[in-house]
Amino acid sequence: MGQKLLLKNIDVPGIRHYQAYRENGGYASAEKAFKMTTDEILEEVKTSGLRGRGGAGFPTGMKWSFLAKPEGVPRHLVVNADESEPGTFKDRFLMEYIPHLLIEGVLISSFCLGSNTSFIYIRGEYAWIAEILEEAIDEAKEAGWLGKNIQGTGFDLEIYVQRGGGAYICGEETALLESLEGKRGNPRLKPPFPAVKGLWGRPTVVNNVETIAAIVPIIDITGAEYAKIGVGRSTGTKLISACGNINKPGVYEIDMTITVEEFIYSDEYCGGIPNGKRLKACIPGGSSVPIVPANLLLTTAEGKPRYMNYESLSEGGFQTGTMMGSGGFIVLDEDQDVVYHTYTLARFYRHESCGQCSPCREGTGWMEKILKRIDEGQGKMSDIELLWDVQRKIEGNTICPLGDAAAWPVAASIRHFRDEFEWHINNPEECLTRNFGLAHY
Ligand code: NAI
Ligand code: SF4
Repeated sequence: MGQKLLLKNIDVPGIRHYQAYRENGGYASAEKAFKMTTDEILEEVKTSGLRGRGGAGFPTGMKWSFLAKPEGVPRHLVVNADESEPGTFKDRFLMEYIPHLLIEGVLISSFCLGSNTSFIYIRGEYAWIAEILEEAIDEAKEAGWLGKNIQGTGFDLEIYVQRGGGAYICGEETALLESLEGKRGNPRLKPPFPAVKGLWGRPTVVNNVETIAAIVPIIDITGAEYAKIGVGRSTGTKLISACGNINKPGVYEIDMTITVEEFIYSDEYCGGIPNGKRLKACIPGGSSVPIVPANLLLTTAEGKPRYMNYESLSEGGFQTGTMMGSGGFIVLDEDQDVVYHTYTLARFYRHESCGQCSPCREGTGWMEKILKRIDEGQGKMSDIELLWDVQRKIEGNTICPLGDAAAWPVAASIRHFRDEFEWHINNPEECLTRNFGLAHY
């Protein structure tokens, strides 16, 4: 059984509410942090090696140390709870079942960063969770953990929950800031990064829900102890939302030392594949990372076992590897049709493109159209090259990573499953009558 830091109290009755959270050690990290200087807290976060849990894995301590501090200009912390990556639902779980962990994390982080007004930007579809967070904020306020002069420290903090309008692109940090400012959620060009010019042009740290929640155990056990958990630059624990063709879909806290095989087949985690089916492929980090066939998922190109951590999952680059990403782990069994799944992903990205850049706006539309006709048995062999060409023209030529995220699954599917594309083209009749079990994500 791996070490639990974030979900250790998840089974405590009533843990969603202040009283049970407090009785089980809640807000003790905040008490400890208030006795430290902001530099000492920052040092603990740096020492912990914590990397951003939203998908990019950027070192949190480094991001915090980039925060500009011009005299007289307010700074902000914005929590990115716009969790919309297909297959990713770990933040939803955390906020729904243990909301005070996030509130305490926001409190400590805001104290360290000097933010007196912090925001949680939550995806619109998580409406009931926004209410849970608002209730937790009210409880924390009543108990003296928010508001003016918190616990006699002289530190003031208000946390506002802002609901998104249902656009995936608003999870991109600069689109999120635009939306928070009341504008259309179009991504901005970076640099400048939000740490220098963020919300209303003010220095802003944008961090994922899980990242901010992890600050609580880091202060509790110290950064050095946190760094001892895990392996290499994959320190601490990581939440993984597992779905698709597995016996036990759900959210798991892992310590990043387990192999991918153990994660899929052990009863402690996914519990194997239903009906004894064979593993065909996996998207291990949310739909923005390349799909990987079973042989390359379980072992690296050199035949070493692959582990559930940042380094191991990306070993081999895009040619053979994939990425940890947001931790949305989607398993596909032998019955799954890779062309169909690639088409549904392309449809998703076309729908969610904000339309600012031509390669993404036009390219996602073209990829969807070409994949649809191949999927429906109306494609021709030259479509495969055309599709390859379109995705190549998107990657690296757009303002934000949505373009890359749309291109990568297409490239990986053609690279690893070209025979399935050819099968669709050569067997038009069977394409229309095929019957495969759906993988839900
Ligand atoms: P990024 O690599 O551009 O940036 C990561 C973070 O580091 C950002 O907050 C950025 O501001 C900061 N940063 C980087 N260089 C910096 C510098 N020199 N100075 C100051 N700050 C700096 O990646 P991005 O666009 O934030 O995230 C992309 C990832 O998001 C993808 O890999 C994907 O896995 C994930 N994603 C997650 C979703 C979810 O629902 N959780 C949805 C969609 C994508
Ligand atoms: Fe918008 Fe796509 Fe350009 Fe991102 S890459 S800014 S989503 S058009």
